[in-house]
Amino acid sequence: MDRIRTVRKAVIPVAGNGTRFLPATKAVPKEMLTIVDRPVVQYAVDEAHQAGIDHIVFVTSRNKQAIEDHFDDTPELISSLSRAGKTAQISELEAMLPKAGSVSFTRQQAPLGLGHAVWCARDLIGDEPFALLLPDMVSFGARGCMAGLMELYREVGSNVVGVEQCAPEDASKYGIVGKGETVQHGFAVTEMVEKPAMGRAPSNYYLNGRYILQPEIFSILSHQSRGAGNEIQLTDGMLKLSETQAFHAHPYEGRTFDCGSKHGFIEANVTFALARADIGDIVFQSVREIMLSHESRIRAA
Ligand code: G1P
Repeated sequence: MDRIRTVRKAVIPVAGNGTRFLPATKAVPKEMLTIVDRPVVQYAVDEAHQAGIDHIVFVTSRNKQAIEDHFDDTPELISSLSRAGKTAQISELEAMLPKAGSVSFTRQQAPLGLGHAVWCARDLIGDEPFALLLPDMVSFGARGCMAGLMELYREVGSNVVGVEQCAPEDASKYGIVGKGETVQHGFAVTEMVEKPAMGRAPSNYYLNGRYILQPEIFSILSHQSRGAGNEIQLTDGMLKLSETQAFHAHPYEGRTFDCGSKHGFIEANVTFALARADIGDIVFQSVREIMLSHESRIRAA
C-alpha cells in the first residue's frame, strides 16, 4: 500500500439556508443555533480538533457572517469579562479560539448540493486527503466520531466514512452503504446509495456525516451531474471514486443526533444538558416533572 498521507484539514459545509428552522433562521445561521450553550457548528470544530486536525475550511454562503465572528477573537468582550472578574468564562473563550491562520472561509454561491459545496473547498484543500464533517450531525459519546475515522484511516488509508445503524423506515433519509469484509476498526464498503427508495437499501448502515476523502474526489465532483433532489450529490461522487479507490466504514460507537430536524435538535439539547456536570441534575428533575405531568394530562384526556 502507498504511504498513508496525513489528514491536516477538515471541511465543514455551512452554506445551507436552514428553512426547516424558520423563523429562527431568518437572521441567524442554523449552525449558530445552540445545543445548551454552544452553537451547533462548535461541536464539529471541537470534534475535528479532538481527532488531531488543525485547519478548518468552512464553506459558507450569504448571511453567514455570524459564523466567522464566532471563530474570531473578541477583545472588547474579554476586557469587560476581565473587569467583572469572570475568569472562568475568559478561559473558556480563550480555549475555544482557533490558532491564527488555522481557519479559512470560502463561499458556495448557489445551493447546488453537498457535492458542490465540497468541491468549492478544492483550492483550499489542495492535493491532500481531508476530513469532512457535516455540522448538522452532532456526535455524542465518549469521543467524537472523527477520532474513530482517523483510526480506521491509519489502518486502511484511502477513503473512510462514518456509519451508524438506522431503523429500516429511516433509510430513505440518508446515504446507505453495503457491508463487506470486516477490518479492525470497521468494514469494507461494497456499495453506496443516496436516499434509497423504500426496500432498496443495501443495509441499515447510514452515512452519519463524517468522511475522510482523497483529493481525487474534486475532479470527479467537477463533472458530476445532478442526482437525488436535483442536487450534485457527494455520495454519487464517492460512488464514482470507489471504482478506483477503496472505501471503508467505521461504525460510530456513540450516537449521532440529526440536528437538521427539529426533533433531533431537541433530543440533542436534552441529552447534552443531562450530561452536563453543572446543570444535568436540575435538567433531569425538570424533564421528569414535565414528562409526568404530560403523561397524566394525556391519561385524563
Ligand atoms: C447528506 C448526505 C447523506 C448523509 C446525510 C447525513 O444528506 O448526502 O448521504 O446520510 O447528509 O446527514 P442531507 O442531510 O444533506 O440530505
